Amino acid sequence: MEINFKGFKLNIKDILNFVSKEEILSLNNEIQSAAELLKNKSGKGNDFLGWVDLPAKISANDISEILLASKSLRENSEIIVVIGIGGSYLGARAIIDALSHTFKPLLKKKSRFPVVLFAGQNIGEDYLSDLLDLLNKKDYSLIIISKSGTTTEPAIAFRILKNHLEKKYGKKESRKRIIAITDKFRGALKKLADKEKYKSFVIPDDIGGRFSVLTPVGLLPIASAGFNINELLRGAREMYEFLNAENLLYKNPAFLYTAVRNILYRKGKAIEIFVNYTPSMSYFTEWWKQLFGESEGKDGKGIFPAGVSFTTDLHSMGQWMQDGTRNIFETVVWIENSKRLIVVPNDKYNLDELNYLTGKSLNIINKKAMLGTKEAHLDGGVPNILITIPELNEYYLGMMIYFFEYACAVSGYVLGVNPFDQPGVEAYKKNMFRLLGKKA
Ligand code: PA5
Repeated sequence: MEINFKGFKLNIKDILNFVSKEEILSLNNEIQSAAELLKNKSGKGNDFLGWVDLPAKISANDISEILLASKSLRENSEIIVVIGIGGSYLGARAIIDALSHTFKPLLKKKSRFPVVLFAGQNIGEDYLSDLLDLLNKKDYSLIIISKSGTTTEPAIAFRILKNHLEKKYGKKESRKRIIAITDKFRGALKKLADKEKYKSFVIPDDIGGRFSVLTPVGLLPIASAGFNINELLRGAREMYEFLNAENLLYKNPAFLYTAVRNILYRKGKAIEIFVNYTPSMSYFTEWWKQLFGESEGKDGKGIFPAGVSFTTDLHSMGQWMQDGTRNIFETVVWIENSKRLIVVPNDKYNLDELNYLTGKSLNIINKKAMLGTKEAHLDGGVPNILITIPELNEYYLGMMIYFFEYACAVSGYVLGVNPFDQPGVEAYKKNMFRLLGKKA
């Protein structure tokens, strides 16, 4: 059973040993009601639905402004440091990593586009020290992203990096090298940006961090890295139009995905493992984990979103997945064509006994690994959802972003939670502030 939308495919045939078509269909009413809540903006968290129509609403003017800012950053920087955490960095990192040359920073040939690095997503002292070592030797700029403008990790990193930048270039030149992306009116970053007159972009009030990749939060870093944000938005827009127009459970891939994962959850499959076979998709996995984890994991409910990179992790997590507690299911993302071609060469002596692979591309071998693993996991009691895209480019990544955002929102409503808040994140902050002696 497969839905194919312009090359984006969702295939659920490998869950049918575990869940019947009738069981899937039995969720139809709940899913239709959840989709209605989104459409009518009448569900929990309905003040955070700005992302729903965003792909259709973002204006040519907004895009030009982002492109212009990215051009000015690129012109004077070998490195752009994006400072942010959670939804304020994972989307950009997911897309930039997915599309970049894996070893770009080490390539001898100078790229027209700067290397984008990240800070403020941890409090690692050595991480930031290492980054400063590098920034001593390179021309760089900063993009500081924080919706609240008060998140501790990026605020600390920004304070340190801003000092470094000002020492290196002076205050006046530094102002040209800092772009702030934050709330329109509120927060410490907004105050600072106004005072220092940094070029700024607004994170719309009604879009939460993990749904913000198609706002300047994701678009500015992605454009600065040299990727085509118009194509990203085109993919998202086409998926938006399709998902919002198609009401039939068996034709709407977001509905079908929601039905399958929720029925599996009700049958005791409490962990969803997102599987990629392309190393550059690791951060897309992280973005997906945050999206579903922060949106669904609350009120004592929620599927635990985990992720693995195969075939790498078959040699570490493979045993558990084949044979461990049977409370998991997999969502595999397969990219049909790689960008580059390498075939296995023939060897006269064949001591490694690999000549049976002579002339085969690594993509073909990887695909057989994927199919073989799926089969083995099915035999081992792991239901499998397969998502396929033809290639890794901006257009299909845009489609996937909107697909997962929409499915996540519908799924959250089916689960009965508010998919757009994250009250649980405050607990650690409260304790950390107390331990650091912060005055209330
Ligand atoms: O999805 C979310 O809302 C969170 O992950 C936030 O993006 C994250 O906590 C960072 O918040 P802020 O952008 O306010 O610094």
